[in-house]
Amino acid sequence: MNTIPLNQARTLTLRILRHNPTDPDSEPRLQDFQVEETDAMTLFVALNIVREEQDPSLQFDFVCRAGICGSCGMLINGRPALACRTLTRDLGDTVVLAPLPGFALIGDLSVDTGKWMRGMSERLETWIHAEGLETKNLDAIEDAMDPELAEQLYELERCIECGCCVAACGTMQMREEFVGAVGLNQIARFQLDPRDTRSDSDYYELIGDDSGVFGCMTLLGCDDMCPKQLPLATQIAFLRRRMAAV
Ligand code: SF4
Ligand code: SF4
Ligand code: FES
Repeated sequence: MNTIPLNQARTLTLRILRHNPTDPDSEPRLQDFQVEETDAMTLFVALNIVREEQDPSLQFDFVCRAGICGSCGMLINGRPALACRTLTRDLGDTVVLAPLPGFALIGDLSVDTGKWMRGMSERLETWIHAEGLETKNLDAIEDAMDPELAEQLYELERCIECGCCVAACGTMQMREEFVGAVGLNQIARFQLDPRDTRSDSDYYELIGDDSGVFGCMTLLGCDDMCPKQLPLATQIAFLRRRMAAV
């Protein structure tokens, strides 16, 4: 039920960049949709109303609606953010929406972050490297990890691969092969993990150039825009020092 007092109720205009790259007749264009604002409305809810009641062809992604899956990243008034975690009451009467730059466009507000993240993950080998993993007894009880270290690992594991840091990154817009703050954060996570036997020299092979940590201009758009508030600035500075010492 809408509990916004009548004299404060707003009609929102969602101005959406529409384009279907698979349709040869499609031209990128802005299209306006009007939605009546309700109490505690998120942008995700507003977009659903548009799709259900006005234009079923509108493309955008969501799964969890709770800031967990990372699917609903988009440019909201020019800033990368999650639609499901953005309250319309924090926005003006007109909201301009566009797809995240830096990723292949699927259509309208939907981009293929999954393909980019998989490529980054394969390139940076974001999995535990250890001897004898193939023959490890998976039923055996794992060695206990120091709780403080586990907490540090968990902090970096909170990344939901939403792509907001990639979209906010000036280097990414200039250098397609740059691994982004999300990739550097992954390396910082495995570097911290005592189960991973890779040395700093091994990590240098992965990120010790302009497509890795030395390509970062440290303007920290990633740190400002990460919806999970990951400590990206700290991790990038830490990796830069470690890699410079190799
Ligand atoms: S580091 Fe933050 S902004 Fe980047 S992908 Fe992970 S959660 Fe999203
Ligand atoms: S600090 Fe580095 S990774 Fe972060 S947005 Fe700037 S260039 Fe990109
Ligand atoms: S729908 Fe999952 S993060 Fe927004």
